[in-house]
Amino acid sequence: MTSIQLKTSVPGPKSKALGQRRAAAVPRGLSHATPIYVARAEGAMLEDVDGNRFIDLAGGIGCVNMGHRSPGVVKAIHEQTERFLHTCVQVTPYESYVRLAERLNELTPGKFPKKTLFVNTGAEAVENAVKVARAYTKRPGIIAFEDAFHGRTMMTLALTSKTHPYKAGFQPFPAEVYRIPYAYCYRCSYSLKYPSCELYCARHLEDTFKRVVAQEGVAAVIAEPVLGEGGFVTPPPDYFQTLIEVCRKHNVLFIADEIQSGFGRTGALFASERYGIEPDIMVMAKSLGGGLPIAAITGRSEVMDAPIPGGLGGTFAGNHVSCEAALAVLDLFAHDQLNRRANELGEHFQRRAREWQKLWPIIGEVRGLGAMQALELVRSPETREPAPDETKKIAQYCYEHGVITISAGSYGNVIRLLMPLVITDQQMDEALDILQSALQSVCETRQQVAESVVGR
Ligand SMILES: Cc1ncc(COP(=O)(O)O)c(C=O)c1O
Repeated sequence: MTSIQLKTSVPGPKSKALGQRRAAAVPRGLSHATPIYVARAEGAMLEDVDGNRFIDLAGGIGCVNMGHRSPGVVKAIHEQTERFLHTCVQVTPYESYVRLAERLNELTPGKFPKKTLFVNTGAEAVENAVKVARAYTKRPGIIAFEDAFHGRTMMTLALTSKTHPYKAGFQPFPAEVYRIPYAYCYRCSYSLKYPSCELYCARHLEDTFKRVVAQEGVAAVIAEPVLGEGGFVTPPPDYFQTLIEVCRKHNVLFIADEIQSGFGRTGALFASERYGIEPDIMVMAKSLGGGLPIAAITGRSEVMDAPIPGGLGGTFAGNHVSCEAALAVLDLFAHDQLNRRANELGEHFQRRAREWQKLWPIIGEVRGLGAMQALELVRSPETREPAPDETKKIAQYCYEHGVITISAGSYGNVIRLLMPLVITDQQMDEALDILQSALQSVCETRQQVAESVVGR
C-alpha cells in the first residue's frame, strides 16, 4: 500500500475554505509553498484537514530532522507541562537551560571552553552572534556572502543576499556589512575550476581586507557551511579551513550559521564537523527544538562573556519546555543512528538523481552533503541559465501527487530535500518516484514545445 493517499483533488474543500479565511485575515507577505492546511503529522507524513496524506520532503524547512512528533520529544514536552511552562530565565532560572548549555558546549566542535546563550529563532541567534562578536572585538564590520540567508530581522536582512522577496522595500539596513562571493563552484564568480583554482575565493578575503574594508574594522566573517536558502551550495572540502586561516591571521572571528545544516542534516551533528573546522561562534535553531522554537549561540567563553550582565537575553529566550525538547533531541542524536541514516538517504538520492541527469539536461547539478541534497535546474547545461519556472512546475506536480517539496536558490531554480531523517525506504522511494515523474513531465512538455516551434 502506498503512503500517499489523496482523497480529494488538492487543495480539498476544507483547505480551500481555510485559504479564503486566511486571505482575509493574514497579510499576503506571509507566503505559502502549498495551500493545504495540516491536521496532523507523524514521522515523515502529513495529513491535511481533508484527510489527504502527503510525504513531507520539507520537514517544516528543516525543523524536524528527527521526524514529526518524535516520541522522545513529545514525551519530554508532556512531562514538563506537568511542572511549569515559563518563568523567564532572567527572573527565576531553571536547570534545563543550564543542562542544555552544558550539552551544546560539549557537543559543538572545538575542545576550548565554551558558553551558550539561548534565544527563540534563527534570526535572533544571528543577531546575538553579531552583538557578541562586536562586543568582544570592539570592531563593527561583518563580512557575509553572496547567496547567504541569515533571517528576516533588519540586521539579518543586511547579512542576507537575495533581494526579492526578502530585502526589496525594507531598506535601510544596518551598516558595516560587506559581501564577498561564496564557493559556489557551479557558478564560480571568478570563472575558475576546483581544484586548479587553489581556492582563490577563500584566499581572496586577504584582498577584501586591502580593497574593501580594513581587517582592524572587521569583527567576524559569517558563513553557512552549506548554503540553505541559497540553494544547498556545498563548498569544496578544504574551503572553510583556508578561509578560517585568513580570519585567524587577522584576529577576525568566524561564525558558522548551522541553523539549516545542523542536527544531522549533513550526516554529522554539525556540518562544521564534515569540514573539520572549529568555529569561534556557532548559531543553531530549527531542528534543535524538535518542533518547538528555540535557538542557540555557542562560542568561545571569552567571546561569549564580552557583553556586560543584562546585555543579552529576551523574555521567552530559552523557554523551559523548549529546552527540555532540545535535550530530548540531543538524546536522540546520542542514541539513534540519525547521522548514518542521513548519509544513506543522501547516497540513495544521489544514485537516482545522477541517472535522471543522464536523461534530462534540465538537471544542471546534483549536489549536497549527507541528506542536505538538491538539484539545480537550468534551461541549458551549456549556458547554465536558471530554470525557475520549470522548478515551480516540478514542485507543483509533486504537491498535486502527494509530495511536499520546497525550492531554494537566488534564482529560485533549486529543488532541495529536507525530509525528516526517519523517513522509511519505501516512503523515500515513493517520493522520489513522484519527483522523477515530475521531471519527466516538465521535460516532455518542454520537448513538445520545442518541437512545435521547429515544426512551425
Ligand atoms: C541558515 C539560516 N540562517 C538563519 C535563518 C533564520 O532562521 P529563523 O527563520 O528561525 O529566524 C534560516 C532560516 O531559514 C536559515 O536557514
